[in-house]
Amino acid sequence: MGIVDLINNIKNEYTLKTRKSQQLYNELINYTPYGVHSNWRIWDPYPLFMSRAKGSHIWDVDGNEYVDFCMAFGALATGHAHPVLIDEITSFIGNGTVYGFETEYSVKLSKVLTDRFSMDMVRFSNTGGEATELAVRLARAYTSRKYILKFEGHYHGSRDTLLVGLKPIPAKAGHPKEPRSAPASWGLPEDIYRTVLVAQWNDEESVERVFSKYGDEIAGVILEPIAMNMGFIPPKKGFLDFLRKITNEYGSVLIFDEVKTSGKFYGGAEEYFGVKPDIKVVSKAIGGGFPFSAVLGKRDIMELIGPNRVAHGGTFNSNPLSVYATYVTLTKILTRDSMAKAAVLSEEIAKAASDILKDNKVPAYVSYAGLSGGVYLTRKDVELRNWRDFVNYVNLDAMYVYLTSMVTKGVIPQCMAPDEQWTVSVQHTKDDVDKLIEGLKHVVSLLKQVGVGEVFKIEEAF
Ligand SMILES: Cc1ncc(COP(=O)(O)O)c(C=O)c1O
Repeated sequence: MGIVDLINNIKNEYTLKTRKSQQLYNELINYTPYGVHSNWRIWDPYPLFMSRAKGSHIWDVDGNEYVDFCMAFGALATGHAHPVLIDEITSFIGNGTVYGFETEYSVKLSKVLTDRFSMDMVRFSNTGGEATELAVRLARAYTSRKYILKFEGHYHGSRDTLLVGLKPIPAKAGHPKEPRSAPASWGLPEDIYRTVLVAQWNDEESVERVFSKYGDEIAGVILEPIAMNMGFIPPKKGFLDFLRKITNEYGSVLIFDEVKTSGKFYGGAEEYFGVKPDIKVVSKAIGGGFPFSAVLGKRDIMELIGPNRVAHGGTFNSNPLSVYATYVTLTKILTRDSMAKAAVLSEEIAKAASDILKDNKVPAYVSYAGLSGGVYLTRKDVELRNWRDFVNYVNLDAMYVYLTSMVTKGVIPQCMAPDEQWTVSVQHTKDDVDKLIEGLKHVVSLLKQVGVGEVFKIEEAF
């Protein structure tokens, strides 16, 4: 049996277990492109349709139960339906859902956020994409400059502003040291995507090249402090310090997109890496599953927001439900202690997975920090440092086998995309971790049957 037969067998198994998902998908594609409301949810032959979730588990419409380590693409470090949050929100919702006015909790949450993430001021929105867009607008207003520098493979939301250099195929992406400003969507005007310059993650020379050409015109540099949309690729030692230094030198604003990291470490990336940006964007897990995002920044930057100044508005901004849910999540659920315990489980997954893959000579890159990490099956044993490494070395067939086969065994080991990761919530248990590890052992035995480990040996011989 080769890998294609293995993939077909797994697809069959998946289809047999998930008939109702298939039916719903077949109906939905008549109304909705690809049968999903976010492109990130597309899966072959179709994605699962879910019906309910509790704690670390989720159930699909066919009644199959899964241990869930995707946790809504990292939006749930609380786990599903956390009892404290459900209790609080249930009594709160009777007061109404949206007012168009601020509340007492706007004040309380502003204090919690500015304190926890060490910034002077804050503005609330609902999604990560809205907030990164505001961050970039602020950087441009503050510097009166045009260009934003981002990193290839980093994702900052599905907005025109930053849909550039996202997952380009290398043939169209330019030289690795000087990536092109490749648009990541149809429908983007050239005038917009040309305002976003792209550098290679973890490559100081690449950043220096862009600064030496455009330095005085670069309003800001935006980045995911750990790249979590091209696998799980931390900055190499000293790289964030280097970015802090070069942005200071050129007077550009340094923006940390902490949509993911803000819920993976208690104090976010600044606490973990010890580097202070000028603006931070926080979202996802801090909202406990409710749509909430915020831009935090230094006072002189944030005070640019206002009528006839930097625009920022939104009907659902600071809606009482999201604000209260975020307040409860941060003060009662994602405590330093509970997050430290979840991080221990995350480390256990990474260590056990690494050992199993190494012992069986299945090439892979395993990486983790805080509540997250990922297993990336590769063509040979390499450390992934940037997007080019990801496209060159990750074995997408093996990743498909890993993710889909685990699902048929009742575990969603990380989100259903080869470049995603796991989130260990404060409700996951050692039992859940053991199930993931058992599933991985099974996948390794399948991959060995089709010779994935053998390919590794042959490549090494050459
Ligand atoms: C780092 C990062 N920034 C921004 C976003 C966009 O957030 P949203 O989907 O809430 O707009 C995401 C979403 O995955 C993300 O991972």
